[in-house]
Amino acid sequence: MKNSEISEIRVRKIMDSRGGFTVEVIVESEDISSNAMVANSTSTGSHEVCAFPNGDVDACISNFETKKKDFIGIDAIEQKAVDDTLKSVGGEGFGFIGGNIATGVSIAAAKLAAKSLGMELYEYVHAKFTKQYGIRKSIPRPLGNLIGGGAHSNNKMSIQEILISADSGKFMKNATINAQAHKELGKRLKSMGMSTGVNIEGAWNTGLGDMENLKLAKSVAMDVGKETSSRIELGADFAASEFFKDGRYRYSDASFDVNGHVEFVYGLIRDFSLSYVEDPMNEDDFGGFASLLKKSGKSCMIVGDDLYTTNKSRVEEGIKKLATNGVLIKVNQIGTLSDTLDVIKVSHENGLATIVSHRSRETTDNFIAHLAVAFGSKFIKTGIVGGERVSKLNEVARIEEIESLVG
Ligand code: PGA
Ligand code: ZN
Repeated sequence: MKNSEISEIRVRKIMDSRGGFTVEVIVESEDISSNAMVANSTSTGSHEVCAFPNGDVDACISNFETKKKDFIGIDAIEQKAVDDTLKSVGGEGFGFIGGNIATGVSIAAAKLAAKSLGMELYEYVHAKFTKQYGIRKSIPRPLGNLIGGGAHSNNKMSIQEILISADSGKFMKNATINAQAHKELGKRLKSMGMSTGVNIEGAWNTGLGDMENLKLAKSVAMDVGKETSSRIELGADFAASEFFKDGRYRYSDASFDVNGHVEFVYGLIRDFSLSYVEDPMNEDDFGGFASLLKKSGKSCMIVGDDLYTTNKSRVEEGIKKLATNGVLIKVNQIGTLSDTLDVIKVSHENGLATIVSHRSRETTDNFIAHLAVAFGSKFIKTGIVGGERVSKLNEVARIEEIESLVG
């Protein structure tokens, strides 16, 4: 066993996958060191902690430097002590050091603790935290972004993401079938004389509207499903807060009031056999989510992302109001692993599925692969192609191999 008492923390400014700035945090003990790189977002929920207040990465780094001494001597195995210190020095909502530095310190500390024990991060998080909640480690299914719109793209599709997830057994097979569907869609766009550009997550930027894109995705999912003898499920992340203005959901060619939008989304679930729907309603409309869930029943996973922002009290409100049956998990929405674990616990206790997710402006860090396994998450939402997305897919596949060896 190696020493896990924190002797130094360094924060470096690095680039995210779109050339914006974010941070890498390096945590050291006398014996070992670990690092964590933290992603940025585009369609940021209003209730998230702010990654870098005023967008000023340098100021956050300098502010953290003045508080660094408070962490020296804490044993990284004491995750709660690390995270409580982050909260006490970080300012309201991490407004002083920034949510991304908090997340980086929290995750790098967990990685240091795992390393000191000679464990994989997923094994450590499961053994130390989630096993006691009755959660079993599990290999998630890859949920990937096939066609992009909304704030992630520059086109007329209002839905932010049309998603696919192959369901054929092994993780890598599912990931490669998703990639095959992505490739097939590119071929079809080319033969239709359409744009073959991709958006910030590597999803196709087709130039078509919402309905045409859904039809195209459905047809590709059916054909590639047949070719590969597998089922490919369809889903959508509406990120609906982005196009909810003055009480109406405003698409490029239609607009709906709240009840009308519940009906519209329910119609899409039915017509396109959607098995996953994320943020179909505005981020504060728990009632709208609940109406949709009541209609769709068990046929579809209704998931809160901006609705919850990985915040325990918001998830508790959703549970009370029967708003969703799934919770999206992004550590840097809340800033610490401990607070994320509280969300996992309450979700699990109340029968809500969890989905660990990337952000739109990623890094090559693959810690979300480990968290998805340790949290027993049904899906890992991390794109289909692109190095920063594939690094997570390959890591889940590596974990699946280790787990099949241990049985
Ligand atoms: P974001 O997008 O990282 O830009 O928030 C991802 C999502 O909405 O799921
Ligand atoms: Zn989302």
